[in-house]
Amino acid sequence: MRYLPALLLTLSLPAVADEQSGAEVYNTTCIECHGSGKHKAPLFGSAKHWGKLVREGLDDLVPAALGGLRKMPAKGGNPALTDGEVARAVIHMANAGGGSFAEPTPADIERWRAKADKRKRK
Ligand code: HEC
Repeated sequence: MRYLPALLLTLSLPAVADEQSGAEVYNTTCIECHGSGKHKAPLFGSAKHWGKLVREGLDDLVPAALGGLRKMPAKGGNPALTDGEVARAVIHMANAGGGSFAEPTPADIERWRAKADKRKRK
């Protein structure tokens, strides 16, 4: 029974304890542009701005956020973020704009990274 407290602690930790949530990443990095529409960034919470993007889907949106798109730098200019953190921030933003995307799987994140590396910067 000596090990029970340690065991319970381990079991109660989330699987990705050291990763930031989508909301945290949004509030520290993405909000700079997406909170105000700076550089014409699609505005957080706007179904009007996000409707078309939500229909395009995460296979377009996440690689764009990872690799950058026109005035948006790669990872929103915060290279310390992991690919998974960026993906969760995209999902947080897309869902606030009318989407209903689920948490990404490790396979999703790998696929989005490969797409980001392949696509040419526009
Ligand atoms: C320096 C400003 C800036 C920051 C910071 C920024 N973005 Fe953007 N973002 C933009 C702009 C501008 C666009 C519109 C790009 C375009 O279509 O020309 C955009 C577009 C997007 C899109 C839509 C991509 C598409 O396929 O049309 C997503 C998704 C996105 N940003 C996610 C994020 C996430 C996630 C973060 C934080 C990790 C972030 N952005 C931080 C400026 C920014």
